Amino acid sequence: MIAYRNLRVALLGAGSVGAQVATLLTEHHDELASRVGAGLDLVGIAVRDVDAPRSAPLDPALLTTDAMSLIESADIVIELMGGIEPARSYILHALNSGADVVTGNKALLAAHGPELQAAAEQVGAQVYYEAAVAGAIPIIRPLRESLAGDRVKRILGIVNGTTNFILDKMDVEGDTFENALAVATELGYAEADPTADIEGYDAAQKAAILARLAFHTDVPVEAVHREGITTITAAQVSQAQKAGYVVKLLAICERLTDPETGVEGVSARVYPALISRQHPLAAVHGGKNAVFVEAEAAGDLMFYGAGAGGIETASAVLGDVVSAARRHVAGGPGVAETTHANLTILPIDSVSTRYQITLEVSDAPGVLARIASLFSEHGVSVEAVQQSVASVGPDAVAAGTPDGSGTATLVIVTHIASERALSRTVAAIADQKVVVRVESVLRVEGA
Ligand code: HSE
Repeated sequence: MIAYRNLRVALLGAGSVGAQVATLLTEHHDELASRVGAGLDLVGIAVRDVDAPRSAPLDPALLTTDAMSLIESADIVIELMGGIEPARSYILHALNSGADVVTGNKALLAAHGPELQAAAEQVGAQVYYEAAVAGAIPIIRPLRESLAGDRVKRILGIVNGTTNFILDKMDVEGDTFENALAVATELGYAEADPTADIEGYDAAQKAAILARLAFHTDVPVEAVHREGITTITAAQVSQAQKAGYVVKLLAICERLTDPETGVEGVSARVYPALISRQHPLAAVHGGKNAVFVEAEAAGDLMFYGAGAGGIETASAVLGDVVSAARRHVAGGPGVAETTHANLTILPIDSVSTRYQITLEVSDAPGVLARIASLFSEHGVSVEAVQQSVASVGPDAVAAGTPDGSGTATLVIVTHIASERALSRTVAAIADQKVVVRVESVLRVEGA
């Protein structure tokens, strides 16, 4: 039975997600009312230009350019405009006017999350943001609520669909990065300017949001170590494949202790890494996303699905709208989020993982032994070495082997080692005359 008054919902932004949210709110009005115990009335949609073309038909009577007045009239404000301003000011205004806020704005949350949470807390309102990380996939609510009694140890996320599409195409079809990016652009995965995706900025924002929730600690996006996928070559992907790995852009949030300083803290980082083809994340193909959570009591959990898309992301937004509406009906302060742990944010140097190092070296006696001794001198233990002859004769002279004895490619996989020890080892290796080139150093994750 519906006993509560209808709730007034305001939408800011009518892009591909916003238009779908408006459609679902209207089409599912009666069903949502039964689930919430109150009708959810879409009272207006603030847009920059009321005459702009839309991806779904919207009631023109709902469109307005007066966002402030619309916000002031609402119980729940859905912000889907993106960008920092005016979205930040609108959200603060909504909270101060007594509305709950639903947003999918990861850039804003990564940059101003603590400010928005503090503003919400001060007035006893809530900010919901399930759509900000990995589109349709429920991951914010599981971290904030389902796992609130557990301790998260590590999160490994494929949280950017564009880069997963590109790397998957390189893996499955042997494509180059440039070709795969061109196809991603043609199919609408990548934006005209793909920098935010391929350089890892989008994933870093999502890592900052996940790390904050998982470790109850503010993690500024600037503290997230970030490397993109633009240097990944078809040769690296094919070599990874032969060795039983696949290259994925991973967002990693981890609680760890620096092996040299003993400082405990949180690491949040984004880089392309090798993972075993047996790992569940290796099965995440195309533009899909997945978040693999390792928790102390729950063990391993994986959340998989669409990381983008208008209607898919609208599902996450609607879930938040229902949560916000139920809170209005039930009363009370809602779900608390804390940063009580206030852990130190550790730099990339504090991380320990496994590494795959690919070298082109002179194919001469003693070279392998010399390289092996450099690993041992820096305390890095070698797990596997693979050698193949790369070139001989004149090519080898051109490639830099002084005696034309030929070159060989060495692929070395280490046991777990610290980032510091590994960089010292690689620097020492690069200094050797017998080393023509350090072709690549990739981290091996997921063990
Ligand atoms: N550009 C993102 C992606 C989607 O490729 O996954 C929005 O976060």
